Amino acid sequence: MELVKKFRHQQVKNITNARQSVCGSGKNGIVELEDGTSMCARYEKNQYLIFAEALAFYLSRLLGMDNVPEIVLSKTDESSDQWKGSDFQKLNWKENVEVALIKWLQNASSETFMPMAIQNAYRTGKPVNSDVIHYTAPLYSTHSTATAELMQWGTMIIFDNLIGHYDRLILYQPVGKRKISRRSITSGLYNSLKSPNGKIWLIDNESAFFYQNKYRDPAYNYIQLLNFHDKMLKTMCIFQSSLVVELRKLSNLPSPFHHLWMYASTFEPLFVTFKKDYRFNEFARFFNKRLDDIIDWIDHCKALSFEK
Ligand SMILES: Nc1ncnc2c1ncn2[C@@H]1O[C@H](COP(=O)(O)OP(=O)(O)O)[C@@H](O)[C@H]1O
Ligand SMILES: [Mg+2]
Repeated sequence: MELVKKFRHQQVKNITNARQSVCGSGKNGIVELEDGTSMCARYEKNQYLIFAEALAFYLSRLLGMDNVPEIVLSKTDESSDQWKGSDFQKLNWKENVEVALIKWLQNASSETFMPMAIQNAYRTGKPVNSDVIHYTAPLYSTHSTATAELMQWGTMIIFDNLIGHYDRLILYQPVGKRKISRRSITSGLYNSLKSPNGKIWLIDNESAFFYQNKYRDPAYNYIQLLNFHDKMLKTMCIFQSSLVVELRKLSNLPSPFHHLWMYASTFEPLFVTFKKDYRFNEFARFFNKRLDDIIDWIDHCKALSFEK
């Protein structure tokens, strides 16, 4: 959290329009802070998107993950130390709007593809377990890049499931009568970046947690996503042990979502300004339910491995 603290009080030295390939579409911007750090600035009408982005970051840290870039929320205010003289109006931004400033990842630019073992599991319904790793050695020797990639995918599958991400893994979901997915299972993963050292970054987490759709019951989108996320979860029966430890700790709390919200609020002062509406408790309930289901699946895998 050191970087978060550092970014929070820095002045915006320069701000320019984003492009689709650099910080995204809409009214997004590229911000340079006084220490020279580049940040993507996300500007959205819908506060759920901005807060989902921040909440995803805090969840990643709560679970011991380090592959979601640092983010701070900030309210546009010409007279504040942070925004003074930055002329954010040239991007058609208004005063008093919460924006998300997200650390720009320097060298992460390549794509990541679903590992063959997971693709096979997805097609056959037989999850990846230690046998798969064993039989396909030396591809999956203990320290191979392939193993590191497989484990990162496993963690991401759980993360996307838990937050109900509706703009990354889910794009592989076959939809409609003809069962055509927006992305083929062999094409690169959307809203992710890969560093030269093989680390997979999860960016653009605004489409998560809140299953938001102005005109529909929140449960509608939730149910739409559920089958696919569950099917993906069940492709993997091996997990990063540190992740499992943190998931269990979280699931043992009376309300995991509430805990996450409080955790985020201790670092991010703008969380108290979030306008909770009638849907909020429903979103909390979905999150807690997802976590329970994930733990059940992990327990199931553990039981299977003991049977052998
Ligand atoms: N933090 C970041 N570091 C490096 N590149 C980024 C970062 N955020 C976004 N990008 C680049 O900008 C593109 C669009 O950003 P994204 O956040 O996905 O915006 P949108 O909301 O328009 O989908 C990404 O595909 C990626 O190439
Ligand atoms: Mg995107």
